[in-house]
This record gives sequence, C-alpha cells and structure tokens, in this order.
Amino acid sequence: MSDKKPVLELRNVDKSFGPIDVLNDISLKVGEGEVLCLLGDNGAGKSTLIKTLSGVCQPTRGEILMDGETTVFSRPREAQERGIATVHQFGGTYPLMSIGRNFFMGAEPTKGFGPFRVFDRKRANRVAVEEVQKMGITRITDGDRLVGGLSGGERQSLAIARAVYFGARVLILDEPTAALGVKQAAHVLRIVNEAKRRGLAVVFITHQVMHAMAVGDHFAVLIRGAIAADFRKGEKTREHIADLMAGGESMADLEASIEGNMETQGG
Ligand SMILES: Nc1ncnc2c1ncn2[C@@H]1O[C@H](COP(=O)(O)OP(=O)(O)OP(=O)(O)O)[C@@H](O)[C@H]1O
Ligand SMILES: [Mg+2]
Repeated sequence: MSDKKPVLELRNVDKSFGPIDVLNDISLKVGEGEVLCLLGDNGAGKSTLIKTLSGVCQPTRGEILMDGETTVFSRPREAQERGIATVHQFGGTYPLMSIGRNFFMGAEPTKGFGPFRVFDRKRANRVAVEEVQKMGITRITDGDRLVGGLSGGERQSLAIARAVYFGARVLILDEPTAALGVKQAAHVLRIVNEAKRRGLAVVFITHQVMHAMAVGDHFAVLIRGAIAADFRKGEKTREHIADLMAGGESMADLEASIEGNMETQGG
C-alpha cells in the first residue's frame, strides 16, 4: 500500500466484542509523511479500528507493528509513549482551561526551585501561541484565552499543534471535520497537510469524501468491519469512492430513486 517504510502497520487484525465481530482481517499501513484516509459509513468499524491502534482495546487476532516490530499496546498510555497521538472530535480539549494550560497539560513548564516551583504561565502561553501560529492559525494571539471560546476548527488545530510539538510520530484523527463548516474544515485540512509535511504519519478518519481527497495519499474503505477497497490518490474518482462507501450501490441511482419517490408523493 505504501512505498515508504511503514511507521505503523496492522496485519490481519480481527476484533470481536464477545460474539460480535466488528473488525475482520484488517491489514493497513502508514508511513512517514503520509496520510491514510479511512472511509466508511456509520457503524463500519472506524472508531473501533482507531481504538485498536491507540491502545484502548486490543486485537482479538492479528498484530500491530511499529517500525516493523510487533507491538502490544495494553493501555492508551503505552501507545502515547510510542508517539501515537489520537485527536478526537472537538479536539478533546477542556473548555474551561486556557490555551497555554491546555497545550501543556501533564507537561507543564515550571519556574522557581523546590517548594517554590510554580506553573510558568507566561512561557506556556508564549510557546502555545507560537506553535499554533506556526500551524497557520494566526488569529490566536493570547494564550490566556479559554479553549471554550475557540471555534471547533481552532480547537482541532490546537490539539494537532500540541501533538506535533510533543513529538508525535503518528497522528490519528477521528472525524476531525465532521462538525465543522466549510471554512473551518479547510483550516483543519491545511493543518493535516502541515503535519504531513513535517513527516508525521497521519490516519484520517472521515465519511466526507471531499475532505479525504483534499489530504489523502492512500485510502481504505471500510464496510461492515472489512476493507472493501484500498487505493492510492488519483486512482478513483469522487463518484466512485462515494459509490464504494454506499456499499457498491450507485449514488446516482440512489439519488434518482429518492427524487422519483418524492415526485410520486408530491403527486
Ligand atoms: N464495545 C462494543 N461492544 C459491542 N459492539 C460494539 C462495541 N463497540 C462497537 N461496537 C459495534 O461495532 C460496530 C462498529 O462501531 P464503530 O463505532 O467502530 O463504527 P464507526 O465506523 O466508528 O461508526 P460512526 O461513523 O458512526 O462513528 C457497530 O455496530 C457497534 O455497535
Ligand atoms: Mg466512529
């Protein structure tokens, strides 16, 4: 699937919850500076797949490899320590925290010594604002602002900038653009491209074909827990991808039948 040496790879992964089979024989890989788009309808198994990649749950069968070596992530913390950053919808940020605090959560810079050590607010704010600006979000200039006051796209951008700053190698984004308007989504897509340019391996989950096409190098379509199609940029048209996601039904036919129904109902 990828020409470059893969950073993260899944080989023949199955995942079941008791009697329910959710993932079936998934093999995927993503390399440095590449964006792998995972497409699929509701319930296809996308979130379960990323939970498996980020240590929230373990595969029932198959293996996960990092830099070519078989790896087990027993807990999310273990995946994080290996440089896998997962950004959930809305950026997983805390609305009542300042930008600077949020950026450094769990790794706060301090000043002073011994019992006099205090959170270095100025430094945290300066670095947070600098890093977010480097990602092209120039509207954020004050690190004391509360995250709750940021737009959805800005929050996503903050979460991505944070992951990049702390040295993530793999960035997993679960539907980062789902709740965003056109402009904000474009912003997040630009930042995904920036993360890619900096050499991160990105797994981008979406069911919006246009968003996937704007950033993706490789694409995998998941249907009922299995990979139904796997292709590179430029190999398929938007219409074809949409049809694949609809489970092989032609979207044009689907639309025609909806229009037909409406006409009959309208009399
Ligand atoms: N812990 C669980 N126990 C049982 N079934 C589960 C569990 N987690 C997920 N599932 C089932 O697995 C299937 C895939 O769920 P998943 O959340 O991975 O889909 P998704 O592709 O992320 O969907 P969406 O686009 O709606 O977010 C669903 O049918 C879901 O009900
Ligand atoms: Mg999901």
